[in-house]
Amino acid sequence: MDPIDNYVLVTGGAGYIGSHTVVEMIEAGYTPIIVDNLCNSSRESINRLEQITGKQIEFHELDILDERGLEELFASKHITQVVHFAGLKAVGESTSLPLKYYENNVMGTFILLKVMAKYRCKNIVFSSSATVYGDAKEVPISEDAPLSAVNPYGRTKLHIEGMLQDISAGDSEWNCILLRYFNPAGAHPSGLIGEDPKDIPNNLMPYITQTAIGKRQVLSVYGNDYETPDGTGVRDYIHVVDLAKGHIAALNHLSTKPGCVAYNLGTGRGYSVLEMIAAVEKASGKKINYKIVERRKGDVATSFADPSKALKQLGWSARYNQNDMCEHAWKWQSQNPNGYDPSPIDHA
Ligand code: NAD
Ligand code: UD1
Repeated sequence: MDPIDNYVLVTGGAGYIGSHTVVEMIEAGYTPIIVDNLCNSSRESINRLEQITGKQIEFHELDILDERGLEELFASKHITQVVHFAGLKAVGESTSLPLKYYENNVMGTFILLKVMAKYRCKNIVFSSSATVYGDAKEVPISEDAPLSAVNPYGRTKLHIEGMLQDISAGDSEWNCILLRYFNPAGAHPSGLIGEDPKDIPNNLMPYITQTAIGKRQVLSVYGNDYETPDGTGVRDYIHVVDLAKGHIAALNHLSTKPGCVAYNLGTGRGYSVLEMIAAVEKASGKKINYKIVERRKGDVATSFADPSKALKQLGWSARYNQNDMCEHAWKWQSQNPNGYDPSPIDHA
Protein backbone atom coordinates (compact mmCIF):
# COMPACT_ATOMS: atom_id res chain seq x y z
CA MET A 1 0.00 0.00 0.00
CA ASP A 2 1.36 3.41 -0.99
CA PRO A 3 1.85 5.37 2.27
CA ILE A 4 1.03 8.66 0.52
CA ASP A 5 -2.66 9.07 -0.13
CA ASN A 6 -2.92 12.51 -1.65
CA TYR A 7 -0.66 13.35 -4.54
CA VAL A 8 -0.84 16.52 -6.56
CA LEU A 9 -0.29 15.98 -10.27
CA VAL A 10 1.74 18.78 -11.85
CA THR A 11 1.46 18.80 -15.64
CA GLY A 12 4.29 20.73 -17.29
CA GLY A 13 6.22 20.65 -14.01
CA ALA A 14 9.62 20.53 -15.73
CA GLY A 15 8.96 23.95 -17.28
CA TYR A 16 9.69 27.45 -16.06
CA ILE A 17 6.73 28.23 -13.79
CA GLY A 18 5.95 24.58 -13.00
CA SER A 19 9.44 23.86 -11.66
CA HIS A 20 9.35 26.87 -9.31
CA THR A 21 5.91 25.80 -8.12
CA VAL A 22 7.13 22.27 -7.35
CA VAL A 23 9.74 23.75 -4.97
CA GLU A 24 7.07 25.74 -3.11
CA MET A 25 4.72 22.74 -3.04
CA ILE A 26 7.32 20.56 -1.38
CA GLU A 27 8.08 23.33 1.13
CA ALA A 28 4.36 23.57 1.89
CA GLY A 29 4.07 19.82 2.50
CA TYR A 30 2.42 18.72 -0.75
CA THR A 31 3.65 15.64 -2.64
CA PRO A 32 3.89 16.43 -6.34
CA ILE A 33 4.08 14.02 -9.26
CA ILE A 34 5.34 15.68 -12.42
CA VAL A 35 4.24 14.75 -15.91
CA ASP A 36 5.91 16.53 -18.79
CA ASN A 37 6.74 15.50 -22.36
CA LEU A 38 9.82 17.77 -22.27
CA CYS A 39 8.81 19.46 -25.54
CA ASN A 40 9.91 22.80 -24.08
CA SER A 41 11.98 21.77 -21.08
CA SER A 42 14.81 19.60 -19.91
CA ARG A 43 15.15 16.59 -17.64
CA GLU A 44 18.00 18.47 -15.93
CA SER A 45 15.37 20.73 -14.31
CA ILE A 46 14.19 17.68 -12.33
CA ASN A 47 17.75 17.05 -11.07
CA ARG A 48 17.96 20.68 -10.02
CA LEU A 49 14.63 20.43 -8.20
CA GLU A 50 15.98 17.46 -6.26
CA GLN A 51 19.11 19.49 -5.46
CA ILE A 52 17.08 22.43 -4.14
CA THR A 53 14.55 20.42 -2.14
CA GLY A 54 16.73 17.48 -1.05
CA LYS A 55 13.79 15.23 -2.01
CA GLN A 56 13.37 12.63 -4.69
CA ILE A 57 10.74 13.81 -7.14
CA GLU A 58 8.46 11.49 -9.07
CA PHE A 59 8.68 12.35 -12.74
CA HIS A 60 6.92 10.76 -15.74
CA GLU A 61 7.91 11.69 -19.26
CA LEU A 62 4.38 11.69 -20.62
CA ASP A 63 2.27 13.68 -23.03
CA ILE A 64 -1.10 14.82 -21.68
CA LEU A 65 -2.55 13.79 -25.05
CA ASP A 66 -1.68 10.20 -24.08
CA GLU A 67 -4.97 9.24 -22.45
CA ARG A 68 -3.93 5.70 -21.65
CA GLY A 69 -0.68 6.87 -20.01
CA LEU A 70 -2.62 9.33 -17.85
CA GLU A 71 -5.13 6.64 -16.91
CA GLU A 72 -2.35 4.30 -15.79
CA LEU A 73 -1.00 7.05 -13.57
CA PHE A 74 -4.37 7.90 -12.02
CA ALA A 75 -5.09 4.19 -11.51
CA SER A 76 -1.82 3.62 -9.66
CA LYS A 77 -1.70 6.76 -7.45
CA HIS A 78 -4.29 8.52 -5.39
CA ILE A 79 -4.18 11.94 -7.03
CA THR A 80 -6.51 14.44 -5.38
CA GLN A 81 -5.54 17.72 -7.08
CA VAL A 82 -3.98 18.80 -10.37
CA VAL A 83 -1.93 21.90 -11.15
CA HIS A 84 -2.05 22.20 -14.92
CA PHE A 85 0.83 24.09 -16.56
CA ALA A 86 1.37 21.88 -19.64
CA GLY A 87 0.82 23.92 -22.77
CA LEU A 88 2.48 25.65 -25.67
CA LYS A 89 2.91 29.38 -25.20
CA ALA A 90 4.60 31.01 -28.22
CA VAL A 91 2.18 33.63 -29.47
CA GLY A 92 3.80 34.01 -32.93
CA GLU A 93 3.90 30.27 -33.53
CA SER A 94 0.26 29.96 -32.48
CA THR A 95 -0.66 32.36 -35.28
CA SER A 96 1.11 30.29 -37.94
CA LEU A 97 0.27 26.86 -36.46
CA PRO A 98 -3.10 27.31 -34.72
CA LEU A 99 -4.10 23.63 -34.98
CA LYS A 100 -0.96 22.63 -33.10
CA TYR A 101 -2.09 24.94 -30.28
CA TYR A 102 -5.70 23.74 -30.29
CA GLU A 103 -4.55 20.13 -30.25
CA ASN A 104 -1.92 20.47 -27.55
CA ASN A 105 -3.57 23.01 -25.26
CA VAL A 106 -7.31 22.48 -25.73
CA MET A 107 -7.41 18.78 -26.58
CA GLY A 108 -4.65 18.03 -24.06
CA THR A 109 -6.72 19.71 -21.34
CA PHE A 110 -9.87 17.94 -22.50
CA ILE A 111 -8.16 14.54 -22.18
CA LEU A 112 -6.74 15.47 -18.79
CA LEU A 113 -10.18 16.54 -17.52
CA LYS A 114 -11.79 13.39 -18.86
CA VAL A 115 -9.30 11.19 -17.02
CA MET A 116 -9.62 13.29 -13.88
CA ALA A 117 -13.41 12.92 -13.93
CA LYS A 118 -13.13 9.16 -14.42
CA TYR A 119 -10.90 8.87 -11.34
CA ARG A 120 -13.02 11.34 -9.37
CA CYS A 121 -10.23 13.85 -9.00
CA LYS A 122 -12.14 17.10 -9.50
CA ASN A 123 -9.80 19.79 -8.21
CA ILE A 124 -7.65 21.76 -10.62
CA VAL A 125 -5.53 24.91 -10.69
CA PHE A 126 -5.08 26.12 -14.26
CA SER A 127 -2.37 28.37 -15.78
CA SER A 128 -4.33 31.02 -17.56
CA SER A 129 -2.91 34.32 -18.69
CA ALA A 130 -3.58 38.05 -18.73
CA THR A 131 -3.80 37.55 -22.48
CA VAL A 132 -7.50 36.63 -21.90
CA TYR A 133 -8.15 40.37 -21.34
CA GLY A 134 -7.16 41.02 -24.98
CA ASP A 135 -6.69 44.70 -25.63
CA ALA A 136 -7.86 45.89 -22.20
CA LYS A 137 -9.35 49.36 -22.20
CA GLU A 138 -8.64 50.15 -18.55
CA VAL A 139 -5.82 49.58 -16.10
CA PRO A 140 -5.49 48.20 -13.52
CA ILE A 141 -7.23 45.15 -14.98
CA SER A 142 -9.62 43.35 -12.67
CA GLU A 143 -11.01 39.84 -13.13
CA ASP A 144 -14.38 41.11 -14.30
CA ALA A 145 -12.89 43.08 -17.22
CA PRO A 146 -14.20 41.95 -20.65
CA LEU A 147 -12.45 38.89 -22.10
CA SER A 148 -11.27 38.47 -25.67
CA ALA A 149 -8.64 36.67 -27.69
CA VAL A 150 -6.16 38.52 -29.86
CA ASN A 151 -4.32 35.43 -31.11
CA PRO A 152 -4.82 31.62 -31.23
CA TYR A 153 -2.73 31.11 -28.07
CA GLY A 154 -5.04 33.44 -26.18
CA ARG A 155 -8.06 31.70 -27.66
CA THR A 156 -6.84 28.35 -26.30
CA LYS A 157 -6.75 29.90 -22.81
CA LEU A 158 -10.28 31.25 -23.24
CA HIS A 159 -11.55 27.87 -24.48
CA ILE A 160 -9.99 26.10 -21.52
CA GLU A 161 -11.37 28.65 -19.05
CA GLY A 162 -14.79 28.05 -20.67
CA MET A 163 -14.47 24.26 -20.32
CA LEU A 164 -13.59 24.62 -16.64
CA GLN A 165 -16.54 26.95 -16.04
CA ASP A 166 -18.90 24.55 -17.80
CA ILE A 167 -17.82 21.44 -15.90
CA SER A 168 -18.05 23.30 -12.57
CA ALA A 169 -21.52 24.59 -13.45
CA GLY A 170 -22.67 21.09 -14.37
CA ASP A 171 -21.19 19.24 -11.40
CA SER A 172 -20.66 20.89 -8.03
CA GLU A 173 -17.91 18.42 -7.14
CA TRP A 174 -15.57 20.26 -9.52
CA ASN A 175 -13.39 23.04 -8.12
CA CYS A 176 -11.37 25.00 -10.66
CA ILE A 177 -9.08 27.94 -9.99
CA LEU A 178 -8.04 29.96 -13.03
CA LEU A 179 -4.83 31.86 -12.38
CA ARG A 180 -4.31 34.69 -14.84
CA TYR A 181 -0.60 35.45 -14.78
CA PHE A 182 0.71 38.84 -15.79
CA ASN A 183 4.42 38.83 -16.82
CA PRO A 184 6.44 36.15 -15.02
CA ALA A 185 10.12 37.04 -14.60
CA GLY A 186 13.12 36.20 -12.44
CA ALA A 187 14.31 32.86 -11.16
CA HIS A 188 14.77 30.87 -7.96
CA PRO A 189 17.15 32.77 -5.62
CA SER A 190 19.54 29.77 -5.72
CA GLY A 191 20.08 30.34 -9.46
CA LEU A 192 19.60 26.60 -9.99
CA ILE A 193 16.32 26.81 -11.90
CA GLY A 194 15.04 29.52 -14.21
CA GLU A 195 13.61 30.28 -17.61
CA ASP A 196 15.30 28.36 -20.43
CA PRO A 197 13.74 29.25 -23.78
CA LYS A 198 14.60 26.61 -26.40
CA ASP A 199 14.59 29.14 -29.26
CA ILE A 200 15.08 32.87 -29.58
CA PRO A 201 13.12 34.34 -26.65
CA ASN A 202 9.83 36.05 -27.46
CA ASN A 203 9.55 37.61 -24.04
CA LEU A 204 11.44 40.64 -22.84
CA MET A 205 13.24 39.42 -19.70
CA PRO A 206 15.03 36.35 -21.13
CA TYR A 207 15.97 38.44 -24.17
CA ILE A 208 17.54 41.10 -21.94
CA THR A 209 19.53 38.61 -19.83
CA GLN A 210 20.68 36.69 -22.93
CA THR A 211 21.88 40.00 -24.39
CA ALA A 212 23.70 40.78 -21.14
CA ILE A 213 25.49 37.40 -21.23
CA GLY A 214 26.46 37.91 -24.89
CA LYS A 215 24.24 35.19 -26.35
CA ARG A 216 22.24 37.82 -28.26
CA GLN A 217 23.90 40.87 -29.76
CA VAL A 218 21.17 43.45 -29.62
CA LEU A 219 17.77 43.74 -28.01
CA SER A 220 15.01 45.23 -30.17
CA VAL A 221 12.79 47.57 -28.16
CA TYR A 222 9.39 47.40 -29.84
CA GLY A 223 8.40 51.05 -30.10
CA ASN A 224 9.07 54.19 -28.04
CA ASP A 225 6.01 56.13 -29.13
CA TYR A 226 3.39 54.63 -26.82
CA GLU A 227 1.43 56.82 -24.45
CA THR A 228 3.57 55.85 -21.49
CA PRO A 229 6.01 57.94 -19.42
CA ASP A 230 9.05 57.01 -21.57
CA GLY A 231 7.17 55.83 -24.68
CA THR A 232 7.97 52.11 -24.24
CA GLY A 233 5.46 49.41 -23.25
CA VAL A 234 4.55 49.02 -19.58
CA ARG A 235 3.92 45.59 -18.03
CA ASP A 236 3.32 44.03 -14.64
CA TYR A 237 6.42 41.83 -14.13
CA ILE A 238 5.98 39.34 -11.32
CA HIS A 239 8.72 37.29 -9.67
CA VAL A 240 8.26 33.62 -10.58
CA VAL A 241 8.63 32.57 -6.92
CA ASP A 242 5.76 34.89 -5.96
CA LEU A 243 3.77 33.36 -8.79
CA ALA A 244 4.63 29.87 -7.52
CA LYS A 245 3.44 30.82 -4.03
CA GLY A 246 0.17 31.96 -5.61
CA HIS A 247 -0.37 28.34 -6.67
CA ILE A 248 0.05 27.15 -3.08
CA ALA A 249 -2.55 29.69 -1.96
CA ALA A 250 -4.84 28.39 -4.73
CA LEU A 251 -4.27 24.74 -3.78
CA ASN A 252 -5.10 25.56 -0.16
CA HIS A 253 -8.23 27.40 -1.30
CA LEU A 254 -9.49 24.41 -3.30
CA SER A 255 -10.39 22.67 -0.04
CA THR A 256 -13.00 25.40 0.62
CA LYS A 257 -14.86 24.10 -2.48
CA PRO A 258 -14.96 27.45 -4.30
CA GLY A 259 -16.44 26.22 -7.62
CA CYS A 260 -14.83 27.91 -10.62
CA VAL A 261 -13.07 31.18 -9.84
CA ALA A 262 -10.45 33.36 -11.57
CA TYR A 263 -7.63 35.33 -9.94
CA ASN A 264 -5.10 37.76 -11.34
CA LEU A 265 -1.55 37.06 -10.27
CA GLY A 266 0.34 40.30 -10.68
CA THR A 267 1.95 42.96 -8.52
CA GLY A 268 -0.35 45.84 -9.44
CA ARG A 269 2.60 47.93 -10.62
CA GLY A 270 3.95 48.40 -14.13
CA TYR A 271 7.49 48.97 -15.43
CA SER A 272 8.51 50.12 -18.89
CA VAL A 273 10.89 48.27 -21.20
CA LEU A 274 13.58 50.91 -20.57
CA GLU A 275 13.11 50.61 -16.80
CA MET A 276 13.57 46.84 -17.05
CA ILE A 277 16.72 47.27 -19.14
CA ALA A 278 18.14 49.71 -16.57
CA ALA A 279 17.31 47.34 -13.71
CA VAL A 280 19.08 44.39 -15.38
CA GLU A 281 22.07 46.63 -16.15
CA LYS A 282 22.26 47.47 -12.46
CA ALA A 283 21.88 43.85 -11.33
CA SER A 284 24.40 42.46 -13.82
CA GLY A 285 26.88 45.31 -14.09
CA LYS A 286 26.62 44.84 -17.90
CA LYS A 287 25.59 47.37 -20.50
CA ILE A 288 22.63 46.12 -22.56
CA ASN A 289 22.96 46.83 -26.25
CA TYR A 290 19.53 47.82 -27.57
CA LYS A 291 17.89 49.59 -30.50
CA ILE A 292 14.42 51.05 -30.91
CA VAL A 293 12.42 49.37 -33.68
CA GLU A 294 8.81 49.37 -34.89
CA ARG A 295 6.00 48.43 -32.51
CA ARG A 296 5.25 44.68 -32.35
CA LYS A 297 1.85 43.80 -33.80
CA GLY A 298 -0.67 42.96 -31.09
CA ASP A 299 1.14 44.80 -28.26
CA VAL A 300 -0.73 47.15 -25.97
CA ALA A 301 0.81 50.24 -24.38
CA THR A 302 0.14 49.42 -20.74
CA SER A 303 -1.00 46.36 -18.84
CA PHE A 304 -1.01 45.81 -15.12
CA ALA A 305 -3.16 43.88 -12.69
CA ASP A 306 -5.58 44.70 -9.99
CA PRO A 307 -4.41 41.90 -7.67
CA SER A 308 -6.78 42.74 -4.80
CA LYS A 309 -9.09 39.74 -5.27
CA ALA A 310 -6.21 37.28 -4.72
CA LEU A 311 -5.21 39.19 -1.58
CA LYS A 312 -8.72 39.23 -0.21
CA GLN A 313 -9.74 35.67 -1.02
CA LEU A 314 -6.44 33.75 -1.17
CA GLY A 315 -4.40 35.85 1.26
CA TRP A 316 -1.74 36.11 -1.45
CA SER A 317 0.29 39.07 -2.65
CA ALA A 318 3.65 39.47 -4.39
CA ARG A 319 6.63 40.07 -2.06
CA TYR A 320 9.68 40.37 -4.31
CA ASN A 321 10.53 43.67 -5.98
CA GLN A 322 11.96 44.59 -9.37
CA ASN A 323 15.57 44.44 -8.09
CA ASP A 324 15.11 40.94 -6.69
CA MET A 325 13.59 39.83 -9.97
CA CYS A 326 16.51 41.16 -12.01
CA GLU A 327 19.19 39.93 -9.58
CA HIS A 328 17.75 36.42 -9.52
CA ALA A 329 17.25 36.35 -13.31
CA TRP A 330 20.88 37.39 -13.71
CA LYS A 331 22.12 34.84 -11.17
CA TRP A 332 20.35 32.07 -13.16
CA GLN A 333 21.61 33.39 -16.53
CA SER A 334 25.20 33.92 -15.40
CA GLN A 335 25.45 30.56 -13.62
CA ASN A 336 23.78 28.79 -16.57
CA PRO A 337 24.73 30.76 -19.69
CA ASN A 338 23.07 28.18 -21.94
CA GLY A 339 20.22 27.32 -19.60
CA TYR A 340 20.14 23.63 -18.68
CA ASP A 341 22.41 22.79 -21.62
CA PRO A 342 25.98 22.55 -20.23
CA SER A 343 27.68 23.36 -23.57
CA PRO A 344 29.26 26.80 -23.97
CA ILE A 345 27.16 29.54 -25.52
CA ASP A 346 27.21 30.45 -29.19
CA HIS A 347 27.67 34.17 -29.42
CA ALA A 348 24.93 35.20 -31.89
P1 NAD B 1 7.15 26.25 -20.22
O1 NAD B 1 7.13 25.98 -21.68
O2 NAD B 1 8.45 26.48 -19.56
O3 NAD B 1 6.40 25.06 -19.43
C1 NAD B 1 5.37 24.31 -20.01
C2 NAD B 1 5.74 22.85 -19.85
O4 NAD B 1 4.71 22.05 -20.40
C3 NAD B 1 7.02 22.50 -20.60
O5 NAD B 1 7.90 21.82 -19.71
C4 NAD B 1 6.56 21.58 -21.72
O6 NAD B 1 7.54 20.60 -22.04
C5 NAD B 1 5.30 21.00 -21.13
N1 NAD B 1 4.29 20.55 -22.12
C6 NAD B 1 3.78 21.23 -23.15
N2 NAD B 1 2.88 20.49 -23.81
C7 NAD B 1 2.79 19.30 -23.15
C8 NAD B 1 2.04 18.11 -23.34
N3 NAD B 1 1.20 17.98 -24.37
N4 NAD B 1 2.20 17.11 -22.46
C9 NAD B 1 3.07 17.21 -21.43
N5 NAD B 1 3.83 18.29 -21.21
C10 NAD B 1 3.69 19.34 -22.07
O7 NAD B 1 6.16 27.47 -19.97
P2 NAD B 1 5.87 28.29 -18.63
O8 NAD B 1 6.33 29.68 -18.87
O9 NAD B 1 6.33 27.55 -17.45
O10 NAD B 1 4.28 28.32 -18.71
C11 NAD B 1 3.48 27.39 -17.98
C12 NAD B 1 2.03 27.67 -18.29
O11 NAD B 1 1.74 29.02 -17.92
C13 NAD B 1 1.63 27.54 -19.75
O12 NAD B 1 0.35 26.96 -19.82
C14 NAD B 1 1.60 28.97 -20.24
O13 NAD B 1 0.70 29.15 -21.32
C15 NAD B 1 1.13 29.71 -19.00
N6 NAD B 1 1.54 31.11 -18.98
C16 NAD B 1 2.87 31.44 -19.10
C17 NAD B 1 3.25 32.78 -19.10
C18 NAD B 1 4.69 33.18 -19.26
O14 NAD B 1 4.96 34.32 -19.59
N7 NAD B 1 5.66 32.31 -19.03
C19 NAD B 1 2.27 33.78 -18.97
C20 NAD B 1 0.95 33.41 -18.82
C21 NAD B 1 0.59 32.07 -18.83
C1 UD1 C 1 3.46 38.31 -24.34
C2 UD1 C 1 2.31 37.85 -25.22
C3 UD1 C 1 1.16 37.37 -24.33
C4 UD1 C 1 1.66 36.25 -23.43
C5 UD1 C 1 2.86 36.74 -22.62
C6 UD1 C 1 3.46 35.63 -21.80
C7 UD1 C 1 2.38 39.09 -27.32
C8 UD1 C 1 1.75 40.18 -28.12
N1 UD1 C 1 1.89 38.95 -26.07
O1 UD1 C 1 2.99 39.35 -23.49
O2 UD1 C 1 0.11 36.89 -25.13
O3 UD1 C 1 0.63 35.84 -22.53
O4 UD1 C 1 3.88 37.23 -23.51
O5 UD1 C 1 4.09 34.68 -22.60
O6 UD1 C 1 3.26 38.39 -27.79
N2 UD1 C 1 9.49 43.75 -25.78
C9 UD1 C 1 10.51 44.37 -26.45
N3 UD1 C 1 11.47 43.60 -27.03
C10 UD1 C 1 11.45 42.22 -26.99
C11 UD1 C 1 10.39 41.60 -26.30
C12 UD1 C 1 9.42 42.38 -25.71
O7 UD1 C 1 10.57 45.59 -26.52
O8 UD1 C 1 12.36 41.58 -27.56
C13 UD1 C 1 8.47 44.57 -25.09
C14 UD1 C 1 7.05 44.37 -25.58
O9 UD1 C 1 6.74 45.23 -26.62
C15 UD1 C 1 6.24 44.65 -24.29
C16 UD1 C 1 7.19 44.20 -23.17
O10 UD1 C 1 8.49 44.20 -23.73
O11 UD1 C 1 6.03 46.02 -24.15
C17 UD1 C 1 6.87 42.83 -22.63
O12 UD1 C 1 6.81 41.90 -23.71
P1 UD1 C 1 6.66 40.32 -23.47
O13 UD1 C 1 7.65 39.86 -22.48
O14 UD1 C 1 6.69 39.66 -24.82
O15 UD1 C 1 5.23 40.18 -22.79
P2 UD1 C 1 3.79 40.68 -23.30
O16 UD1 C 1 3.86 41.37 -24.59
O17 UD1 C 1 3.16 41.41 -22.16
